[in-house]
Amino acid sequence: MNETIRPGRDADAAGFIDLVRACWGEYPGLVFDLDAEVPELRALATYYAGQGGALWAADDAQGRLVGMIATRPEADGAWEICRVYLDRAHRGSGLAARLLGRAEAHATAAGATRLLLWSDTRFERAHRFYEKHSYVRSGPIRPLDDLSHSLEYGYAKPLAGIAVLDAAAAASAVPRLATLLVDCVAAGASVSFLAPLGRDVALSYWRTQARAAAERRRVLLAAWADGVLAGTVTLDLDMPANQPHRAEIKKLLVDPACRRRGLGRALLARAEAEAAAAGRSLLTLDTRADDAGEGLYRAAGWSEAGRIPDYSANADGSRDATVIFYRRLSGAASAAPAR
Ligand SMILES: CC(C)(COP(=O)(O)OP(=O)(O)OC[C@H]1O[C@@H](n2cnc3c(N)ncnc32)[C@H](O)[C@@H]1OP(=O)(O)O)[C@@H](O)C(=O)NCCC(=O)NCCS
Repeated sequence: MNETIRPGRDADAAGFIDLVRACWGEYPGLVFDLDAEVPELRALATYYAGQGGALWAADDAQGRLVGMIATRPEADGAWEICRVYLDRAHRGSGLAARLLGRAEAHATAAGATRLLLWSDTRFERAHRFYEKHSYVRSGPIRPLDDLSHSLEYGYAKPLAGIAVLDAAAAASAVPRLATLLVDCVAAGASVSFLAPLGRDVALSYWRTQARAAAERRRVLLAAWADGVLAGTVTLDLDMPANQPHRAEIKKLLVDPACRRRGLGRALLARAEAEAAAAGRSLLTLDTRADDAGEGLYRAAGWSEAGRIPDYSANADGSRDATVIFYRRLSGAASAAPAR
């Protein structure tokens, strides 16, 4: 942590130009032509100030410019995160996260409700970084009319709120959802896995769920709090032939650090709304007895169907009862075939 982050200046031009040129140079096919395509690097602080945005630079202990980031307002409360570049030798040190934190805090203080960014499809390391920081893929791939024939992924996240994850968003959320699942199981959640849950198992689980979401057999919902993907719930629509009116609530998870702030309740309410919109009129779930989930479902007005003792096992061999809950939905959009 020897780097210092400070506002970027026009006088940093040489450092910015060297940094961006070096980063682009890591990728075959990326053409860096300063005058033709990125002349704004010559006076980048003025460029962002003129758009109501801001720019930062990171210097190493010797005063050499080794990182940069910018942000600027877009339409409808969105702010774009731009120009995220880090000298190769300074990657993996946490500097990128500090830079991103600085830009996100600026946008948040300025009233942003949503953050978005574009990333070249070739920048795979950057994608992992944005996904770790709770961004999910958003919208179609954008082709640029540039010398590098660039294709860019859109990434976005709300600072707070709930969203249904479409196929691209769900696939990109897999790493963050895996972290959430591992953390919840470590904190004692009874959600079909035994602690300690390996990250590979969690990744594989969410990859399967993302595929099911892409096939519309499940609806995956995510909740963000303070810009962190801090909760999720799954609506399982894949019911037997004689239960087309039913759906199941699964894997309602809230980050242990974000509990009792209403995320669980909001996720459940949104899942119910999605079920109704999908024409389902009956929801069911099971949850460990005497656990937070039981409190939540009761508080949300679900009905208990009954308890099953010794339903699930813990890592120490002890067993827990489960409670089966159900809820009828009155607002189903178009009832599934009546029988
Ligand atoms: C269950 C869980 C999702 C709740 O998430 P949450 O964001 O903390 O829930 P909310 O803040 O929305 O709580 C809403 C209401 O549920 C009830 N509730 C939530 N946690 C509770 C607890 N630990 N004990 C009793 N009631 C609880 C309360 O009535 C609460 O309202 P209040 O805070 O005004 O008293 C969370 O504890 C979790 O992820 N647990 C581990 C995974 C799990 O067990 N999931 C259920 C599997 S089916």
